[in-house]
Amino acid sequence: MNKQIITLPGDGVGKEIMESAKVVLNTIASEFGHQFTFHQHAIGGDAIDQFGTPLPEDTVKACTHADAVLLGAVGGPKWDIQPAHLRPERGLLGIRKSMGLYANLRPVKAMKPLLHASPLKQELVENSDILIVRELTGGLYFGQPSERRNNGKAVVDTLAYERVEMERIIDTAFQSAQQRRKHLTSVDKANVLESSRMWREVVEEKRKDYPDVTVEHLLVDAAAMKLITDPNRFDVMVTENLFGDILSDEASVLTGSLGMLPSASVRADGVGLYEPVHGSAPDIAGTGVANPLGMILSAAMMLRHSFQMGNEAFEIEEAVQTALEQGFHTPDLNIAGGTLVGTEELTEIIIENLTTKSVSNSICSMYA
Ligand code: NAD
Ligand code: IPM
Ligand code: MN
Repeated sequence: MNKQIITLPGDGVGKEIMESAKVVLNTIASEFGHQFTFHQHAIGGDAIDQFGTPLPEDTVKACTHADAVLLGAVGGPKWDIQPAHLRPERGLLGIRKSMGLYANLRPVKAMKPLLHASPLKQELVENSDILIVRELTGGLYFGQPSERRNNGKAVVDTLAYERVEMERIIDTAFQSAQQRRKHLTSVDKANVLESSRMWREVVEEKRKDYPDVTVEHLLVDAAAMKLITDPNRFDVMVTENLFGDILSDEASVLTGSLGMLPSASVRADGVGLYEPVHGSAPDIAGTGVANPLGMILSAAMMLRHSFQMGNEAFEIEEAVQTALEQGFHTPDLNIAGGTLVGTEELTEIIIENLTTKSVSNSICSMYA
């Protein structure tokens, strides 16, 4: 198959990990007889520097016509002083909105070799396997334009949702639950927010269409606590935009590092933008130690969701798992023992695992 992929490396470690994803995808292409053509475009701070805007028209146009989009990360201290409409993050929000990518799927799975990497007790994280379904194009992120009022002494951000926006993401979550362990946790703040009360009503209405799925409602504060005290109670978790943003970074602790989490931002027809959950990590950018696995696993999600290449995606996931079993890891994974490697070395090990198992075994003993 021939596929045109838009790459948006963005800022900080985004540029470094994008290289890893491309090499891995090229290896998969030659192993499986596909052709992936990459077209790089600017977004975020990088686009501000080149074109004076975080989301150039050309980038939007390219993404609209692509088979899929891969995004690294945007942002960094260099651009924190920009006025709001010129912040790098506006580029990311803008591309999600203009492509209509309302469903952000964030799988959180504790991998066996990384059970010791979590600061949580091993028996707690063991077997945790959660899909966070985050609404992506509504809520506080996209209300009325934010304003400073009263000579700068007051400020307003608005949380706005259309019922139809709730219906479509809640449908996505129910359908995902049907493909998994058939349990849905809806997270809201219905004891305070009107939007959450509408959210609950929609969940209650929709559950009649999915009788095989069990449903529970949790308030977001309690959900944040249960996520790390009892992660195994969760299968699919559905929530609005900001809650989903916060809870997914929290959930990454189960996997050992924020650098491990992939995500897919999709819409009903399967078009998608694939991006790790983490940001541009300015504290480690340029040092060559960024964990590329969240990005590489996002590329695997792209193969599965947008290209129906389930076997190819599985190969990547296996190669990642094998590298971790061999003990290779970047410094964000706090594991005693094993072999500390940088972004490029870890990527090379994954490539070798993808091509020849025997070579990777000999590399393993070389590093041991
Ligand atoms: P961050 O996710 O960039 O970093 C948080 C912490 O996790 C840092 O200590 C960082 O070193 C570590 N980390 C993140 N990714 C890592 C990786 N792949 N390997 C190893 N360690 C990793 O969050 P932040 O520091 O709060 O934000 C920095 C910038 O990134 C901000 O401008 C923010 O707006 C932006 N941001 C962008 C995205 C995105 O583009 N999707 C997501 C989150 C934050
Ligand atoms: C994420 C990020 C973004 C978000 C920011 C950078 C706009 O935190 O993708 O999780 O809040 O959606
Ligand atoms: Mn986030």
